[in-house]
Amino acid sequence: MKQADHNVPVIAIDGPGGSGKGTIAALLAERLGWRLLDSGALYRLVAVAAMDRGIAADDEAALGSLAAGLDVEFAVADHGMVVWLDGRDITSRLRSEEVSAFSSRAAALPAVRAALVHLQRGFLRPPGLVADGRDMGTVIFPDARLKIFLTASAEARAKRRHKQLKEKGESVNLSRLFREIKKRDDRDRSRAVSPLMAAPDAHLIDSTELSIDEVLQKILKLLEESRASL
Ligand code: DC
Repeated sequence: MKQADHNVPVIAIDGPGGSGKGTIAALLAERLGWRLLDSGALYRLVAVAAMDRGIAADDEAALGSLAAGLDVEFAVADHGMVVWLDGRDITSRLRSEEVSAFSSRAAALPAVRAALVHLQRGFLRPPGLVADGRDMGTVIFPDARLKIFLTASAEARAKRRHKQLKEKGESVNLSRLFREIKKRDDRDRSRAVSPLMAAPDAHLIDSTELSIDEVLQKILKLLEESRASL
């Protein structure tokens, strides 16, 4: 399946949770004046909608039709992204551990992934798109101008997530977070459809020892190089 518009440039940033993809993608989109697709948020929205309707995380048929009919709206506010589902602001629920676990299970189901392809490609509009997720460079935008695979050690990712949750006033045990992250990594990497993996033409960046700004500079340099080779 090919992406829709070859002329609009895409930067695809894939990698495991906590690698810094979301932060980096948002900063890049802002810096370039491009649109942003946080594809993980779509899987999380499916989870929130399913939990509200009492749909089980392994009910593929029900989750697939739910994903196909999602009524969502995104907006950028001063403090970050605001997300509405069925006309209600559900932003504060999107990043909870319960939603993380449910979305990881739902994301393994082919019907759910297929239902979200069109919605994701719809984000592609001029002047460009920064898309972050697990299969942006491999499946959704195979013709992306620049593909990044961003990683970090599981320890570093658990610590970052712990800090994030603490700042939001949620108390979570660090070793439990580490175990949850490993479990989600395994599920994301081993699923049959669109597993988490680097595209053959992706640039690998390990952010364990890098600051956000260092990662950003590396990507901007790669973008310059890709423009020069056009
Ligand atoms: O990036 P995230 O933690 O918000 O993603 C939530 C879940 O959705 C995660 O378990 C992986 C899955 N996901 C996916 O399978 N494909 C994507 N493109 C994005 C997220």
